[in-house]
Amino acid sequence: MTDKGIDIAPATGKLGILLVGLGAVSTTFVAGVEAIKRGLAKPVGSLTQMGTIRLGKRTDKRSPKIKDFVPLASLEDIVFGAWDIFKDNAFDAAMKAGVLEKDLLNQVSEQLASLKPMAAVFEQNYVKRLHGENTKSGQNKMELAEQLIEDIAKFKSDNGCDRLVVVWAASTEVYLEESEVHSSIEAFEKGLYDSDPAIAPSMIYAYAAIKSGVPFANGAPNLTVDIPALTKLAEANGVPICGKDFKTGQTLMKTILAPGLKSRMLGLDGWYSTNILGNRYCEELDDPENFKTKEESKLSVLETILQPEAHPDLYKDFSHVVRINYYPPRGDNKEGWDNIDIFGWLGYKMQIKIDFLCRDSILAAPLALDLALFMDLAKRAGMKGVQEWLSFYFKAPQTAPGLYPEHDLFIQLKKLKNTLRHMKGEELITHLGREYYDE
Ligand SMILES: NC(=O)c1ccc[n+]([C@@H]2O[C@H](COP(=O)([O-])OP(=O)(O)OC[C@H]3O[C@@H](n4cnc5c(N)ncnc54)[C@H](O)[C@@H]3O)[C@@H](O)[C@H]2O)c1
Repeated sequence: MTDKGIDIAPATGKLGILLVGLGAVSTTFVAGVEAIKRGLAKPVGSLTQMGTIRLGKRTDKRSPKIKDFVPLASLEDIVFGAWDIFKDNAFDAAMKAGVLEKDLLNQVSEQLASLKPMAAVFEQNYVKRLHGENTKSGQNKMELAEQLIEDIAKFKSDNGCDRLVVVWAASTEVYLEESEVHSSIEAFEKGLYDSDPAIAPSMIYAYAAIKSGVPFANGAPNLTVDIPALTKLAEANGVPICGKDFKTGQTLMKTILAPGLKSRMLGLDGWYSTNILGNRYCEELDDPENFKTKEESKLSVLETILQPEAHPDLYKDFSHVVRINYYPPRGDNKEGWDNIDIFGWLGYKMQIKIDFLCRDSILAAPLALDLALFMDLAKRAGMKGVQEWLSFYFKAPQTAPGLYPEHDLFIQLKKLKNTLRHMKGEELITHLGREYYDE
């Protein structure tokens, strides 16, 4: 750290983005980047591509684009790789996912068709309703991790990459609680040799990435890299990690609206959320064990934003229900209904209804892009371990042990931008603003 900020290595050469899972989110991300590079569409929803950052006083009129302020890899320098349990290339997978129109996909078909997934580490016990044939086999889980480490090294040299990032965008795994095998690097490595059932495939990918010195972002609610063994390994190896669960759709709306209600000290009796959607990841959530992972990730949001213990008159015992209903005709075009029972002055009751007709992967794809670029930046800036400043992107942000996560989208954004200012040695913005009125 100097008075001009942290020394950040330049973003020279190619950045390889390795996606675990080549389904709806990943193909929408890859096809989108290719379309944007060709000028066919704009990177809407991406803070790294479209966002600006205010520097200094409001009167200074300095608000550069974020990508011009910090050295991010350019889209031209990105190379994609992936693992999936199906052999479909990214073009076929995108056609099956049915998120983007054929017309658009045809215009980037060559790039998509050349992206063929590597064989996956997969076990059906962790995603009950999936059966795939493009999978690795080994004597034990450590052998599988070693095969992934080889994949990572080979991808890097075959594609002439300078740096890599791994993003988990594969199916949600069954709910797992933290246990003894997750408690230390030694216990975890022993568990890999013993093929301990508490080590899910996503943890094996995370281990392989961290061992290879590659940042790992977890877009699903699985425990994955949120265990002491892997956070310690990430710190020891100087690798940034973050998770969990891309903040899209209904939870995004919740973390926009709830801070507003709380700011005005409006009370809440209940928040009922239900969704209908029919994409593949929702089909897997139809299984109760997989749904539990998602539910846990969605439920904690309101509690931490509203802080019922600090405001019992407003938020004690509010009821919070989340339902996800698999309804095939909707595909990726989700409909999320929220019924919010609030109360105001003197306890008078009111209701808010939201009907959000959203597209899940359209909301998730720019998050995957931003996370990949910011994680690469963090690595070049020497940042390691949990990257809480990227909470902005997650439904269940990973934090230091014992620290409650910040869910309020606006606090998360301030934290992210202040981290960028800090990296570059710019003054942090407090919004105090006294200087405009002092003589
Ligand atoms: N779409 C969203 O808005 C959104 C939001 C938050 C989180 N997520 C999470 O992102 C993930 C991906 O969502 P999606 O809509 O793209 O799902 P998807 O079902 O379309 O794609 C997931 C892909 O992962 C593959 N896969 C499963 N296990 C694997 C393994 N062990 N290794 C390699 N590949 C594996 C599947 O074969 C599939 O192709 C899900 O876990 C979901 O919970 C999505």
